[in-house]
Amino acid sequence: MKAVCWRGTRDVRVEDVAEPKIINPRDIVVRVTSTAICGSDLHLYNNVFPGMTSGDILGHECMGEVVEVGPSVESLRAGDRVVIPCTIACGGCFYCKQGQYSACDNSNPNPSSSSQILGYPCCGMMGYSSVTGAYAGGQAEYVRVPFGDVGPLKIPDGIPDEKVLFLSDILPTGWMGALNCAVQPGDVVAVWGAGPVGQMAIRSLLLQGAERVIAIDRLDDRLEVAARAGAETFNASEGQVYEFLLEATGGRGPDACLDAVGMEADGHGLMDAADRVKQTLGVETDRPPVLREAIRCVRKGGTISLLGVYAGLVDSLPMGVAFNKGVTFRMGQVRVQAFHHLLLSLIMQDLLRPEEIISHTAPLSDASEMYKLFLKKADRCLKVVLKPGQTRAA
Ligand SMILES: NC(=O)c1ccc[n+]([C@@H]2O[C@H](COP(=O)([O-])OP(=O)(O)OC[C@H]3O[C@@H](n4cnc5c(N)ncnc54)[C@H](O)[C@@H]3O)[C@@H](O)[C@H]2O)c1
Ligand SMILES: [Zn+2]
Ligand SMILES: [Zn+2]
Repeated sequence: MKAVCWRGTRDVRVEDVAEPKIINPRDIVVRVTSTAICGSDLHLYNNVFPGMTSGDILGHECMGEVVEVGPSVESLRAGDRVVIPCTIACGGCFYCKQGQYSACDNSNPNPSSSSQILGYPCCGMMGYSSVTGAYAGGQAEYVRVPFGDVGPLKIPDGIPDEKVLFLSDILPTGWMGALNCAVQPGDVVAVWGAGPVGQMAIRSLLLQGAERVIAIDRLDDRLEVAARAGAETFNASEGQVYEFLLEATGGRGPDACLDAVGMEADGHGLMDAADRVKQTLGVETDRPPVLREAIRCVRKGGTISLLGVYAGLVDSLPMGVAFNKGVTFRMGQVRVQAFHHLLLSLIMQDLLRPEEIISHTAPLSDASEMYKLFLKKADRCLKVVLKPGQTRAA
């Protein structure tokens, strides 16, 4: 079968690989009908997230048709349409029982790799390096899904893939980040990053009752999409974010600040130059200008919600400011399985339309070109959906 294989820094190729098989009784195999490229894939593409090996199959946002189920899977059968959560969860461990699916203790068969880096084993993830279990990903014609009786979400007939594909990751991510802002009536929330994750967070915040959401990015085309969803916008290349947000909130600062950018944020000046050198040398794994800015901007007693991925070490955080303001930090890897049923019902009621952010749809064979486009954010590229079953139109 064809699959998108990682071959090194900014080098992905569509190659012929062996088809997946059932290995464990709780596995299922899915024929992938749609799969997306995520900002998280860019951390692997840029080779700043550890644990990749040449030949690894990428992809943690996918859906399709079940073709085979393991003998212990009773909830699904061949022919069912399912969306696959990016985070893999066993459903029975201490954490899964509390709904903390992304902290699952049993889904990472390679715990020593993440223990060395993080000091504890993290959960398994589809297509996301040896740190999260070295599972083959879903940017492929077929994919094996572990714990198929717990994760995959069954999709009723008649709903197009595009409406539900993002239940695999970015929609529950945006929803969780918004919940972590603990929105109260009248709240103003600033969202850094109008990429796919920021877009999902903006829609979730408005649905959860935020009075105003202010989207911050440097790309006007992405800010336009945020504005259409109901956000106010600020282009960070046109002035100081801090001054703008203070002015916009009567001098107080936003009640909550949500970072939908993470470890590869654009910065400027000496601090950014130092971050880039340290990231290249590996002494600082993450570049945190957005996190620093959010701490500076949030009002006293406010909340900072981190969705953008941080992998390891960040330097020069203004902890004194955070401490003296009494800031609450909430963050984490998405708990897809905790939210996807609710979010599917919101989609079916037409209260959420995640498909609005799809800018490019292409056959799987175009993956290499689409990764380049998404990295450069060229051609108004906001979200790419790859179709393994399709060939390019003549
Ligand atoms: N927590 C989770 O479970 C989870 C899930 C999915 C994705 N993520 C992470 O969310 C982040 C965003 O993902 P995405 O798919 O939207 O990626 P993306 O790269 O398409 O979007 C990031 C956006 O941030 C903007 N940006 C960069 N620097 C900025 C700055 N200093 N100020 C304001 N905006 C800035 C970029 O212009 C871009 O529009 C990534 O780090 C990704 O790994 C986390
Ligand atoms: Zn993702
Ligand atoms: Zn578990």
